[in-house]
Amino acid sequence: MTRFLLLVAGAATLTLALVSTPSTHAQDNKASPRERAGAVVFGQHCSTCHGVRLIKQDAAFDLAAAVKEMPEERFIRGAKTARGSMPSFASALKDAELADVYAYVKRGHTPDLDDVPMESNH
Ligand code: HEC
Repeated sequence: MTRFLLLVAGAATLTLALVSTPSTHAQDNKASPRERAGAVVFGQHCSTCHGVRLIKQDAAFDLAAAVKEMPEERFIRGAKTARGSMPSFASALKDAELADVYAYVKRGHTPDLDDVPMESNH
């Protein structure tokens, strides 16, 4: 009986360990201060076109999808270059702020950032 209980306890511990193992998946982790700062800047300057909480609206350019293949340096350069309806943020934002935005967009939006205000175009 004792042996059986030990086995049960062991299995339970193992299950618990597997369930609570920290995942690298963004949904399970809280945003870093840098990612949060990036979400704030994004909410003030980018969400009207690139989507509140990164959810693409209307014909908005899907930044979250584009950023998967985009290195930080290229993202910052892109954000500082006016193209079509995309304005240049070269004078409005510092590179460090754009780097924070990159960190946020790259990571993706998670529920712990739902309190960050984001301007909408609706
Ligand atoms: C007025 C609408 C608008 C706003 C505001 C806006 N964007 Fe854009 N953005 C666009 C559009 C449209 C494109 C697609 C441009 C194209 O390639 O024709 C784009 C493209 C981009 C690209 C890709 C550029 C490239 O080189 O491929 C980046 C990076 C980007 N935006 C970052 C940002 C960031 C960061 C902000 C906020 C600081 C922002 N955008 C705010 C409309 C906007």
